[in-house]
Amino acid sequence: MPPILSSIIRDEIKPIDGASDSQLSAIDGIAKEFDLTVEKLSEIVNHFCNEMDKGLEKSGMTVAMIPSFVTGIPTGNEVGTFLALDLGGTNLRICEIAFEGKGVINVKQQKHKVTENLKTGPANQLFDFIADCIDKFLSELVTVQFENDQSENDKKFKMGFTFSFPVEQTAINKGTLIKWTKGFTCPDAENKDVVFMLQEALKRKEVPVVVAALVNDTVGTLLSHSYKDPDTLIGIIYGTGTNGAYFEDIPKIKKLNKYSNDSEKMIINIEWGAFDSEKKVLPLTMFDNKLDRESNNPHYQIFEKMISGMYLGEITRNILLHLIDRMLLFDGYSSKELNRHYSFETEYMSTIEADESHALDDTKKVLEELLNIPSTTLTDRQIVKRVCQIVALRAARLSSATLAAIITHCGRVESGSSVGIDGSLFEFYPHFSARIKTALQELFGTNADKIKISLARDGSGVGAALAAMLTTKK
Ligand code: BGC
Repeated sequence: MPPILSSIIRDEIKPIDGASDSQLSAIDGIAKEFDLTVEKLSEIVNHFCNEMDKGLEKSGMTVAMIPSFVTGIPTGNEVGTFLALDLGGTNLRICEIAFEGKGVINVKQQKHKVTENLKTGPANQLFDFIADCIDKFLSELVTVQFENDQSENDKKFKMGFTFSFPVEQTAINKGTLIKWTKGFTCPDAENKDVVFMLQEALKRKEVPVVVAALVNDTVGTLLSHSYKDPDTLIGIIYGTGTNGAYFEDIPKIKKLNKYSNDSEKMIINIEWGAFDSEKKVLPLTMFDNKLDRESNNPHYQIFEKMISGMYLGEITRNILLHLIDRMLLFDGYSSKELNRHYSFETEYMSTIEADESHALDDTKKVLEELLNIPSTTLTDRQIVKRVCQIVALRAARLSSATLAAIITHCGRVESGSSVGIDGSLFEFYPHFSARIKTALQELFGTNADKIKISLARDGSGVGAALAAMLTTKK
């Protein structure tokens, strides 16, 4: 019997040549556990809508719904040059961004790898490293000269800071880190103001930069996409982590009492990675629970752990080991590499899903050369490919649920909306965006065609610079 999977994958599925009944039945069992029917998706959409309402009402809720204090909406006509700093995952990026009006942007940038040592060591060490990188950028790439008659404060570069972690923001340039995610654990940074820590490091290193705005990467992505398309409602990241931001009517942000501003809308950073940490509605499997238990933040970011690039490979690895232990894969043999946590990278899944060769040659390379599995049969490789499809399909369908919920919450099902999305999963993972679109069609029927989804590459840095510009405009 073919596996019972959501309609979208049936067409993609190829038979597994030479598989035994036990192999087929094991794969069918896993496929069923990971399947997300449209009924289940709708249940998740409804639950997420309720969680959004709760987060708008009170602070400290599971879905934090963090006010960004960004109220200006770019028109595309803004002109000026600002710096941006982007910290949020594998790389640190420093950019100089020149807005030239009519949606035209020029970017100069430098990237640095954030080592494990920096991610997990003392916070000062991380912020000093950032200040050094900014200093290097200024001396190598920035040519602006200040006039002698400018005041000391004007002789400083204005910078937007994209910090892609949950932060309780109290002003456009103030916010305390709630909890690290994505493998960062610097012990002395939580509950501290991240702008203050950065500004202090810049002072220590005498770097002439003022942090004018703090934004989440989703907020940055939303802003930068709005610069090009003023109809944009939502900004999303599907990368190492996942999250979304959208424009909310200020009166609906009930927890923001006493806030007054001429604007009607404010961007909300949803922090949806934490959705359903109570494990009420998400269809968690034993493979997800194992991943969560063994992670450095058990019980947190449950939704993110089912979706984002940091974790999909690890879920897949857990399934492969389970099949190996049941003697249903690789003749029961694993390797030292495959036994290592997080060794099966999400990028390998991309390669495997993109492998259309008859003998699955690229899959063979990943398994035998990168992961040192002694030898694999075509059946083994087809099973591995099927497992990747199962895990990634669920991720894409879950991703559609939060997107659908925001559109429903904002009353835009009929009228449609524009969505800017960034992140390696969205940009590079085969079929990821097509699978999201199919799920949206299942949820919204033809209204799904009114959702305009586009790639907003590197939007977060540009967005941070825009936020810095919007603050100086005020
Ligand atoms: C963080 C969010 C961020 C997302 C995407 C999550 O782990 O909590 O703040 O937007 O990753 O980078």
